[in-house]
Amino acid sequence: MCGIIGYWNKELEAFPILLESLKKLEYRGYDSFGFATSFENKLLTERQVGKVSSAKCPILPGKIGIGHTRWATHGKVTEKNTHPHRDCSGKIAVVHNGIIENFQELKNSLLNKNHNFLSETDTEVISHLIEEKLEQGMNLKDAVIEIGSLLKGRNSFVVLNSETKEIIAFRKGSPLIVGITKENGTSEVFIASDIQAFLDKTKKVMYLDDNQIVIIKENPEFYNVKTKDKIEKRLIKIALDTKDAEKGDYSHYMLKEIMEQKETLAKAINQNDKDLMHVSQEINNARGVFFVGCGTAARVCHTAEYIFSKIADKHVNFIPASEFENYKHFLLPETLVIAVSQSGETADVLEALEIAKQRGSKIISIINTQSSSIDKISDYTFLIKAGPEKAVASTKATTSQIVVLILLAYACAGKLKEGERFLIDVAGKVNDMLNPRYEEHIKKLAEIIYQRENIFIIGRGINYPMALESAIKIMEVSYIHAQGFAGGELKHGPIALIEKATPVIVLVANDDVRQEIISNAIEVKSRGAYVIGVSPENNPIFDYWIKTPDVNGEASSIINLVAVQLLAYYLGILRGHDVDYPRSLAKSVTVK
Ligand code: M6R
Repeated sequence: MCGIIGYWNKELEAFPILLESLKKLEYRGYDSFGFATSFENKLLTERQVGKVSSAKCPILPGKIGIGHTRWATHGKVTEKNTHPHRDCSGKIAVVHNGIIENFQELKNSLLNKNHNFLSETDTEVISHLIEEKLEQGMNLKDAVIEIGSLLKGRNSFVVLNSETKEIIAFRKGSPLIVGITKENGTSEVFIASDIQAFLDKTKKVMYLDDNQIVIIKENPEFYNVKTKDKIEKRLIKIALDTKDAEKGDYSHYMLKEIMEQKETLAKAINQNDKDLMHVSQEINNARGVFFVGCGTAARVCHTAEYIFSKIADKHVNFIPASEFENYKHFLLPETLVIAVSQSGETADVLEALEIAKQRGSKIISIINTQSSSIDKISDYTFLIKAGPEKAVASTKATTSQIVVLILLAYACAGKLKEGERFLIDVAGKVNDMLNPRYEEHIKKLAEIIYQRENIFIIGRGINYPMALESAIKIMEVSYIHAQGFAGGELKHGPIALIEKATPVIVLVANDDVRQEIISNAIEVKSRGAYVIGVSPENNPIFDYWIKTPDVNGEASSIINLVAVQLLAYYLGILRGHDVDYPRSLAKSVTVK
């Protein structure tokens, strides 16, 4: 949530580099964006409402600078609330990611000292607090350490002092990574919320950890905020490829990522058997297993209850990460907490894991982003290897996460090889399914229903959490009101909303609840619903049939979801939305 970039060098103009880097962070928030550079020891800034990718910006001169793309928390989406935020002297600029929980108290004390606030943001207190410290004669490094420690909550920020030409970053909570390139005698140093920002320039990185600062210069210097000691960091060469994060021939990342499921499922299956067996033993021996995640990842956690029950005869629990604290008294050192996350940076998940850590419980994670905060806090990590997911709506990461859950459940049941063979077959079926004719058939359905105001989705068993996930997908990209229900719950209230031609998507599998979900479809059909069957077999009750490959058991969740992801995509397109960057959302939710 919010993208941060900082850039230092001695020869090149910073602005074009900052601009291109910030565009790559747009998925983190796209309400507004801004830059600050230091030129002839003066601070220059440019801030605009809207997306950085479609903006026309005057070029700011200067060799060093910072940039920010905002997902608004405190203060409306206006130019004056756009980062960077300055101090009264006009030489300090700050970009920030997080929420300063004690900002009002800090702001009040600064107002009492006659600081002039120009925005409604919490961020601006950082600029004025630094100004105070510098006026007291402190250097920028000590000021950043002191102010960073004063802020309550998860806050990472980068400060530019235009007069002294210093850039210093502080991290607590949201990620900041340093990238370094030294070519033909020219050194360039980046600091960013995500490696993607500078991946086309360098793959050599150093990770800033929580409660550390870094001085951005030719040889960046890292310090521990608590001890003030200098820290030696290793320069790590990462293996990511920029091509993976580009749209290629696709019009949207979302479509590209849906189509990539032809390959990503197979990559997710390819885990180390020893690791799977080791973790499955931990699951089997644990006193309580809790799956935690947010949004779509929470729906994946919900499927875990069905997957482990059906495949491994094992009871596990699912808790939305934002509710986790209420369950903390169940956590023991023998308890296992399993986090599911694409980004590895979701604030609520991190908070849940911090609670688990305090209680001495073991942490396992199923994530897509190596070296992310969740990776670092975990005792054991499974990478789903889906490649960068850029569209805000999660698609390929979701199905790969389900693959890892199914593998783990088979491993718990002592049938890992059987599980792998089964999933390889499923991956092949998804590969066949995602062909142009199939896409066209789903697009036709979208053309029939895209003007409807409500869409309902029903499922039973593992297709119940998938009905909930289908609703998330449809809502977030089409803005049509969509709701998922357990098939059996419909007649306990929601059926009152079914009118003539209301689309109801029925997720069907050849499993033991098949007949019941068809009965639920008949119930809505008799109230006039337009029944869309996502099913291996046709049924006279369906007004529109989306044929799915017939797979056994819990993998129907993957197959049915892929079909609905495509439908959601075309609903969003037909309604004229920017499906990659839906309104009010951000890809990586690093605030609570
Ligand atoms: O990065 P994470 O998987 O932890 O993200 C969790 C949610 O923010 C995310 O799944 C969100 O719900 C997606 N936009 C859904 O498509």
